[in-house]
Amino acid sequence: MIENKNILIFDTTLRDGEQSPGASMNTSEKIQIAQQLERLNVDIIEAGFAAASPGDFDAISQIAKTIKNSSICSLARAIDGDIKAAGEAVAFANKKRIHTFIATSPIHMQYKLKMSTDEVIKRAVHAVEYAKTFVDDVEFSLEDAGRSELPFMKEITQAVIEAGAKTINLPDTVGYRLPSEIKHMVQEMVSFIDSMKSDAIVSLHNHNDLGFAVANTLAGIEAGAGQVECTINGLGERAGNAAMEEIVMTLKTRQDLFPGITTNINTKEIYQASKMVANITGIEPQPNKSIVGKNAFAHESGIHQDGVLKHQETYEIMKPEDIGIEKNNSIVLGKHSGRAAFKDTLSHLGFDDLDNEALISAFEKFKAICDKKKEITDDDIRMIVTDEKLNNNKTFEITSVQISDCSNGVPSAVVTIKHEDKEITDAGIGDGAMDAIFKTIDRITGYNGTLINYKVNSVTEGKDALAKVNCQVIFNDDKQAVLGHGLSLDTMIASARAYVGALNSYLSIQNMLNNK
Ligand code: KIV
Ligand code: ZN
Repeated sequence: MIENKNILIFDTTLRDGEQSPGASMNTSEKIQIAQQLERLNVDIIEAGFAAASPGDFDAISQIAKTIKNSSICSLARAIDGDIKAAGEAVAFANKKRIHTFIATSPIHMQYKLKMSTDEVIKRAVHAVEYAKTFVDDVEFSLEDAGRSELPFMKEITQAVIEAGAKTINLPDTVGYRLPSEIKHMVQEMVSFIDSMKSDAIVSLHNHNDLGFAVANTLAGIEAGAGQVECTINGLGERAGNAAMEEIVMTLKTRQDLFPGITTNINTKEIYQASKMVANITGIEPQPNKSIVGKNAFAHESGIHQDGVLKHQETYEIMKPEDIGIEKNNSIVLGKHSGRAAFKDTLSHLGFDDLDNEALISAFEKFKAICDKKKEITDDDIRMIVTDEKLNNNKTFEITSVQISDCSNGVPSAVVTIKHEDKEITDAGIGDGAMDAIFKTIDRITGYNGTLINYKVNSVTEGKDALAKVNCQVIFNDDKQAVLGHGLSLDTMIASARAYVGALNSYLSIQNMLNNK
């Protein structure tokens, strides 16, 4: 049994997580998530894949300049151009890593790479050596390790460790393996690396195609892995990656099975991280999701409620407070609260990094909402501030939206937008109220948007709940869709804000590309 060991947490929400359909984020969204990952005390943040696009490169380099404690990592294929981009993107980080990979399974080598095993080893060794010219800390992944053959895995591992790799990652890329198999693979690889007298760490990166990502990760920890790769809310390619909150809370809750196995994660930041990732990507965890789902701590049956009231541990193996859920997420502020109380609540919720302008703007939004909504909860405040941060680019700003009665006649909208200190008003018609709003926004701004995804959620319960809209829009037939976020007590206004937010995001990306 492995005892007394600190497991490194490598978060890949911003890279593999972003590969979830519909989860692509812009730079300011990624910076916000990176800051929250730093509050969580994540050891390594995989901030993106620098060679994938100028947007990815920009996000990684800005994160590298912003984050002080966590190590910042970029993914790179075992190709010089990728490694150079990765090295340049992380150059300004306090702590930096390049994560390079090549596939090692027979099926990938034969059909995808069309390379012999010798060629794969040669490419891997060159990649590690080249990465070492940019950073000291190089991680090497045997892509599709889950379906690779152990003798070849050992051969390539020996070669890349000799070339300077410090972490050997064994991804179960297609989520094929079961815990007993992962345990065996890790045991074999750990004892092989020990036999080399190397202190390289074995890392796991499990996908969830058969639902075993977290179980496989825990089995790997039992077998001696020293690092685990995971994402917030289990976001990730296809069925996702192992969920960080589940791994960390299992290790904490089952110390009887994992004695002295710790992580550096500040678990009280888990709920905030989950909410932030859901708000930014628009991908909410399912209600019954472990640890962070809406129902994870909700006891419906009277017997359970009675038991928990008498003694919390009768039906609860963890406390909601352990992951940062306040005992009761109820009224925290009201319409008479001043800016000092508002600021105090923000700092208690972990938002101490708002600049003065953002604070004033968030406070104004809060006051406007207070006029119409009796009870303002922690979740409302979280959303107000997240919305303020997400919409800090105000090239275009919705001032007002009026829609006609849609039950009779042609739906129409009158929209006023602020742009460069001028207010522009126009009216338009559409196939529904929302369509009329979006078409009118297009007319005013001169950009042509195609809505490809639209989601509305309520922040809390009740008729006066805030509506939170996430949409994905393609502007002017661009290849890349952009995300927009809107918040309001009125769904139509939230939708208009989300659409304009997406346009602002599109414009800042265009701006960045033009300045390259
Ligand atoms: O799943 C996978 O194999 C990956 C690698 C690039 C690490 O994401
Ligand atoms: Zn992956």
